[in-house]
Parts: sequence; structure tokens; C-alpha cells
Amino acid sequence: MAKKVGIITSGGDAPGMNAAIRAVTRQGISLSYQIIGIKRGFKGLLDNDFTYLTLRSVSGIINTGGTMLHTGRCPETKTKAGMNKAIKTIKELDLDGLIIIGGDGSLSAGHALSKHGVKVINIAASIDNDIYGTDETIGYDTALNTAVDAIDKIRDTATSHDRIFVVEIMGREHGFLTADVGLAAGCEFIVVPEMKIDVNKLAKELKEGKTREKTSEIIAFAEGCGSSVEFGRQIEELTSLDVRVSTLGYIQRGGRPTARTRIIASKFGHAAMNLFHKGETNVLIGMTDGKISAMPIHQAMKYEKKFDDQTFKVLRTLSV
Ligand code: F6P
Repeated sequence: MAKKVGIITSGGDAPGMNAAIRAVTRQGISLSYQIIGIKRGFKGLLDNDFTYLTLRSVSGIINTGGTMLHTGRCPETKTKAGMNKAIKTIKELDLDGLIIIGGDGSLSAGHALSKHGVKVINIAASIDNDIYGTDETIGYDTALNTAVDAIDKIRDTATSHDRIFVVEIMGREHGFLTADVGLAAGCEFIVVPEMKIDVNKLAKELKEGKTREKTSEIIAFAEGCGSSVEFGRQIEELTSLDVRVSTLGYIQRGGRPTARTRIIASKFGHAAMNLFHKGETNVLIGMTDGKISAMPIHQAMKYEKKFDDQTFKVLRTLSV
């Protein structure tokens, strides 16, 4: 009988999840596995909601955003009853293991399942790029390009009106996306949870920018730093300059994956299935120093990804 592997996308969707589903499915089938797509994240495991994936059912998805399996956040898996229910479904479906595509929440769920003896492989996917054990996550490059493109447009109106803009960028707990967006979009400042800022100093420097005939000044503000509207109000008060706030929001999570995202997703999915076949499970698939890597899930869970404040220094030097 063919071995069976379940595949789940869970947590916030990220562009490229579909490319990873395609890669796992096609590589899995080539290794004679049956691939079961669990629907709507871990909820599908609790509700027995799944579909059989075939070579053709994953056709035409490499270039699409979102996830064909749908996704969700499922707090129930954090409970003992939820975990038992998930394990029951895994047994009923006769799954040999699970491949989980998602971010830090998915990693925790993978860790919990592996402790119950389920063979798990996690694939790092999140627009936040905040997972230890990988330099880059699936979806990050696409979200980065979407946000930079949006700020390029904001720059036009900011310059035309000689305005300051606070642009809120996604990232609940971390500022990795904000920092890279800030550098790539030529922003004047970044505000991220990892770095303390002196708002009075920031306001003073914004005003000094005007003395150097700067027309627009843009602050890339991470979602995890609180209210961007309140921050914008504070900056306006301190500078007496014209300030506007723009929240990029969920457009950062959607859209056609970039070529880079598709390549990473395809390689991650392919590697995940190969490692599963070799019996090397309970690992997180990611990328380290440009190469596909596999780190034990418990190790990836143990550490926090380090924020590189060099990005801030470069950005400040260059946005003079
Ligand atoms: O997937 C990551 C992320 O987009 C964060 O940047 C953001 O804080 C969060 O998800 C939003 O989650 P939800 O989809 O539950 O609103």
C-alpha cells in the first residue's frame, strides 16, 4: 500500500504556499506517496476536512497567491483535547506523517505533534520572515516587493505635497520586513519593536531634513510598535509639519509570488518530501547561507531570530 503524507498550510497565508504544495505533491507522488491535502489549517484535522492531491490538482498554482488548501489559526490545537482529536484523525487517515507549511504558530503545532510521535516536517512560510532556522521564509520576498512598490507610490504624493508619511508595515512581533522595506524604498527612518527610538530625536532629525531641502520623508513603521496613527499624530505635534499615515495592511499578504518566492517554495517543498522519504523528520526546512537547510524543530523553537541593526545604520547613512 502507498505511504500517505498529509500536507497543511496554517496560520497567515503567504504567497508561494501554493508553489510549495505543488512541489510536495509532485515530488511525493514521484516517490510513490499518496498526498492528502488537509483543508483550512489544523481545523481540517479536527473536522476531517481533506482532499486527495494529484499531479493535475496542483496544476496552474505555482503563480498564484494564497493557498489552495485554505488556512486558518486554530487555537484548539493548543489544548489537550484538540491535540488528541488531531492525532485521532492522523491515525484514521493512516497518515505516515505531516508536512506543515507556515510560520511560528505552525512550528509550535509541529513541535507538539512530533512530541506525540507524529513524523513532522515544517516548511518555513510567513511574510514576517521571523523564524529562527532560516534566513528567508516563503512569501517574504513577495511581501517585500509589494510593500516597496506601494511606498514608491506613496513617495510620489509625499513629494508633491512636501509631506511626511508614516507607513505601517505588517509584522506583529518583529520588524524584519519593515527594515528591509525601509532600506529598499529609501525611507528616512524605520521604527521596529527590536529597537528603542527617541521620538523627540526622530522629530528633530525630520525637521533637519527639511533644512537640507528634503521634500518627502517616510518612516517605515512596524505593526508591532503600536498605533501608527497615534505615532503620526505625535510626529505632527513635535515637528509642526504636515504628516499623513498609511497602513499597507493585507495587500502585503496577497498577490502573485515573485520568481524568488516561487524558487524558494519549490526547493523547500522538494527537499521536505525527500527528507521525509529518508526518514529525517521533525525538522524545519529553510535556507541558511543560500543553501537549503534542515534544523531540528525543537532547536528552531528554542531561539529567536536576531535582528540586524546594521540595516538601520545603512538606511540612515544613505537617506541623508
Ligand atoms: O502572517 C503574519 C501576519 O501577516 C502578521 O504580519 C500580522 O500581524 C498577522 O499575520 C495578522 O494575522 P491575521 O491574519 O490573523 O489578522
